[in-house]
Amino acid sequence: MCYLYFCIVLTALPAPMFPRNSVSIWGILKKCIGLELSKITMPIAFNEPLSFLQRISEYMEHTYLLNKACTLPDSIQRMQAVAAFAVSAVASQWDRTGKPFNPLLGETYELTREDQGYRLVSEQVSHHPPVSAFHAESLAGDFVFHGSIYPKLKFWGKSVEAEPKGTITMELLKFNEAYTWSNPFCCVHNIILGSLWIEQYGTVEIINHSTGDKCVLNFKPCGMFGKELHRVEGYIQDKSKRKHCVIYGKWTECMWSVDPQTFENHRKNEKKGESRKKENDDSDDMPESQDTVSVIPGSTLLWRIASRPTHSTTMYNFTSFAMSLNEMEPGMEATLPPTDGRLRPDIRAMENGLMDEASREKERLEQKQRESRKERAKSQEEWSTRWFQQGNNPFTGSPDWLYTGGYFNRNYATLPNIY
Ligand SMILES: *[C@@H]1O[C@H](CO)[C@@H](O)[C@H](O)[C@H]1NC(C)=O
Ligand SMILES: *[C@@H]1O[C@H](CO)[C@@H](O)[C@H](O)[C@H]1NC(C)=O
Repeated sequence: MCYLYFCIVLTALPAPMFPRNSVSIWGILKKCIGLELSKITMPIAFNEPLSFLQRISEYMEHTYLLNKACTLPDSIQRMQAVAAFAVSAVASQWDRTGKPFNPLLGETYELTREDQGYRLVSEQVSHHPPVSAFHAESLAGDFVFHGSIYPKLKFWGKSVEAEPKGTITMELLKFNEAYTWSNPFCCVHNIILGSLWIEQYGTVEIINHSTGDKCVLNFKPCGMFGKELHRVEGYIQDKSKRKHCVIYGKWTECMWSVDPQTFENHRKNEKKGESRKKENDDSDDMPESQDTVSVIPGSTLLWRIASRPTHSTTMYNFTSFAMSLNEMEPGMEATLPPTDGRLRPDIRAMENGLMDEASREKERLEQKQRESRKERAKSQEEWSTRWFQQGNNPFTGSPDWLYTGGYFNRNYATLPNIY
């Protein structure tokens, strides 16, 4: 139905973003050092007009990597494609310092992309702590991709750090393989003064649960000299800890794979001619060093980021994919459930550049949410989730939220009125 529509690449939102410089974030945050941010109300000027459910749908931007993985007979190559997908899934964070709207309890988001061969549904399944669950499946039955995310935000004086608690699972059905991982930490720097910038760091381990083989990816902290800014480096090893290949690159740019011996030799030569001057380190500015990835001869390209559309910088640094997420396509109104994020009036108003209206609507929705919570408490009624159920991840055993099915049957008669 929407096939043709998606061939139009969106390059703009209805309105450019509202300038933030008139609002002092420091005035709000200085009382909250070390606290969890989820309970602090921030001015809407620091948001971007997407809900967190829409933001996690951006994992799907590079689904072609999964489609590719499903065609590769070699298991190491499949792992490479899954690793590239895991890195590409967080690449849209680059320069995205706007905070997505917290989803309301019971809010859902669906994304059907027939051209890319998948559909996704997500639901806000818990409010405190805020947990978002998603489930995506290939229309051809090749893969399912699911997870539940609890973004724990902390304010550290100069920066805000998000720990993405929760497990992500990729099942390649044709090969009977399941891979799991967690996303790296994400940090927004320099929030008091100066310009904001994003760093992602931490170790991401992608485990093949059929064999115990794994891919270890190290998202490097940028360090004092900025040499490691945005760098990702890792390897794929089998159960006997034999390294099959090294994977390297930047999450903001591209990822390559090369044989471990070639990588080591290259590394030794590189170490020789190296010295860098120390920079002013009391600030939280982004380090200057911005070299592009130098490609080691013999490497294979796994993934490269797409350039952003022309108007991106005045539109929250969105990718084309992000620009399309809140779009109401012809025919959608008739099929979407009343809980879909595209129907949220505050996000819609912000997208249209109506900041006062967006603020008022956000306040109204949060108030409505508080009131229905009180009502439920009075009648000792438990909130029940609609499309996901709490359970254990079948591969890791850790607590997770699993899709119970049925969303696409489109029977939405009993959904709550949350807007
Ligand atoms: C993952 O497990 C499957 C099933 O045992 C195995 O055939 C494959 O070699 C493994 N793949 C990787 C990349 O480790
Ligand atoms: C967009 O990116 C630029 C740097 O490229 C940065 O200065 C700006 O703050 C970013 N805007 C948002 C909304 O994150």
